[in-house]
Amino acid sequence: MQKDTLVFDLIRQELERQRRGIELIASENFTSLQVMQAMGNVMTNKYAEGYPGRRYYAGCEIVDQTEQLAIDRLKQIFNIQYANVQPHSGAQANAAVALAVLQPGDNILGLDLSMGGHLTHGSAVNYSGKLYKPHFYGVTREGGVVDYEMLEAKAREVKPKLLICGASAYSRDWDYARIRQVADEVGALVMADIAHPAGLIAKKLLNDPFDHCHFVTSTTHKTLRGPRGGIIMMRNDFENPWGLKDVKGNIRMMSNLLDMAVFPGIQGGPLEHVIAAKAIAFGEILSDGFTAYANQIIKNSQSFATGLVDRGYQIVSGGTDNHLVLVDLRNKNITGKKAEQALVAADITANKNMVPYDDKSAFVTSGIRMGVPSITTRGMKEEHMSFIVDAIDRVLMNADDEKIIGEVRKNVNSFMEQFVLYPELG
Ligand SMILES: Cc1ncc(COP(=O)(O)O)c(C=O)c1O
Repeated sequence: MQKDTLVFDLIRQELERQRRGIELIASENFTSLQVMQAMGNVMTNKYAEGYPGRRYYAGCEIVDQTEQLAIDRLKQIFNIQYANVQPHSGAQANAAVALAVLQPGDNILGLDLSMGGHLTHGSAVNYSGKLYKPHFYGVTREGGVVDYEMLEAKAREVKPKLLICGASAYSRDWDYARIRQVADEVGALVMADIAHPAGLIAKKLLNDPFDHCHFVTSTTHKTLRGPRGGIIMMRNDFENPWGLKDVKGNIRMMSNLLDMAVFPGIQGGPLEHVIAAKAIAFGEILSDGFTAYANQIIKNSQSFATGLVDRGYQIVSGGTDNHLVLVDLRNKNITGKKAEQALVAADITANKNMVPYDDKSAFVTSGIRMGVPSITTRGMKEEHMSFIVDAIDRVLMNADDEKIIGEVRKNVNSFMEQFVLYPELG
């Protein structure tokens, strides 16, 4: 078979793009080489519908072992009883939880998308807002932190069956205990979507959601630094509260309902090659190296945020507890869209983002979201943050000046040469 040079050339170009730029997209990271290698292996050829030891296909003895390893390692990381490593993505993980516990038309309550929430937490354009009846809480206008009083009032008003916490663009930690309290009062189950901060929670640098939230979902490719994918977890399994029985008349446990919601509920065959890569990533997370990495994320994030504040940038909520900042650019007289375009022209990648109570549309926005997981993986420390803040400030203050942006790009490219990415790839 002839090598498809057209596609491989594009892959090479993407490697060079990743190497020369400063990657600040908060939801991205660089996996280890072994995680990437595991994603391109013969396990992609294998059908394995079902779960380890109970498959609908023959020849699963080997993939059973990688999947079980991924499950066992994930359980060890978070000290939990139940883990499903099959969801193809974070959105799939959330869809499976919803399918397991909700009926169409049920009330759900999540953080508003325009305040940092995620599409799968009830957005009108997503299955979660179409199949279920979505209600939202927000963040305070003054402080930019989750408005727990509003959350409690909404919960009492709409009595959601599922209360969702977690976010895509929120830089503060969560009060899971408080959320559980109101959930118990109104009879809701709680799902924490820790897609963003999971790697920091794994190393106990943020509050532990597992004791308070019935379900915890995550992506595996953000701060967990694994392959693109999703996971569903529970610290403790429990009897489903709706009395659903299996064919033998036994009450089904929640673990059983979740497994069935993933397959055959919303997915077919699992991606066993990606699950192998998840197993490797989970092994890496259990190492001391990852503990140092997670600690460095916090240090870099703090130092990055301080540098921005010193330059007069307004961070929503005033700072950060985790790996990201959401910057409100309104005092800098530039839109999120323009900022994103200018930064990309200087080989700095970050994404425009609505800020709470934004007066601009989602296509324009007043904010920009930036995170440090990728640059921390590349080896940057606190002392490197000032170069990045300087470069960002220069670009944003001269967004129409191609000459200055060209200069910044050159400086960025030579700065990045010291942080070698995938040297094995030549
Ligand atoms: C909080 C949250 N949940 C779920 C997802 C969805 O993950 P995926 O893109 O893997 O479907 C994201 C992705 O950005 C997210 O930020």
